[in-house]
Amino acid sequence: MFITFEGIDLSGKSTQAKMLYSHLKKNNKKAILVREPGGTVISEKIRDILLDKSHSKMFSLTEFLLFSAARQQLTEEVIKPHLKKGYFVICDRYYDSSTAYQGYGGKVPMDTILRGNKIATNGLKPDLTFFIDIDMKESAARRKKAGKSKDRMEQKKIQYFNKVIKGYRELAEKEKSRFKRIDGRKPIEDIQNEILNILRKRHENV
Ligand SMILES: Nc1ncnc2c1ncn2[C@@H]1O[C@H](COP(=O)(O)OP(=O)(O)OP(=O)(O)O)[C@@H](O)[C@H]1O
Ligand SMILES: [Mg+2]
Repeated sequence: MFITFEGIDLSGKSTQAKMLYSHLKKNNKKAILVREPGGTVISEKIRDILLDKSHSKMFSLTEFLLFSAARQQLTEEVIKPHLKKGYFVICDRYYDSSTAYQGYGGKVPMDTILRGNKIATNGLKPDLTFFIDIDMKESAARRKKAGKSKDRMEQKKIQYFNKVIKGYRELAEKEKSRFKRIDGRKPIEDIQNEILNILRKRHENV
């Protein structure tokens, strides 16, 4: 089963993905946890290029193609082989991030994004996607609390992120059975329980 986590920065994706991974391992399930962009040696190098603050010249399409290249490598090298072996594959962001950020938020035409996503994934779709929804106010408050600095992607303007959030919400409306919107302001444990309850409807014994 292929499970992805989506949402804006500091929404709690990594927290929840790690908790789910630990839960599955504790229950003796075969599971791996990977992140995007990244998850392979090549993809992590592409990640460094994407997040480097000095790369302020990067064009929107360059950005999208780099994300897609990292995704293609991760999909073929790690995700597909593990799905074939019956693993739970948990991915911290996947192509919905490109649709939301580079498509809804950025300047790349949506038909280019949809075509590119298909190419990068070879048509592979997550079975379940958890969209952890917080607004920019909450994201900013958490950043301040955590004392976390901004990478190149995170330095974009607030209007950009508001478009990204709107995009995610639209995606969740469009694909209700795969794309599950979760209120990210709830306590961490409550969110994890909500995630497990949704997962249990799809998969016994988790
Ligand atoms: N439900 C929650 N309520 C309050 N704080 C939370 C919640 N979930 C996570 N946090 C806190 O918010 C911060 C960001 O969490 P996390 O790293 O999981 O987010 P993320 O979506 O992976 O962020 P990034 O996009 O930067 O990787 C952390 O300090 C975490 O402890
Ligand atoms: Mg994270």
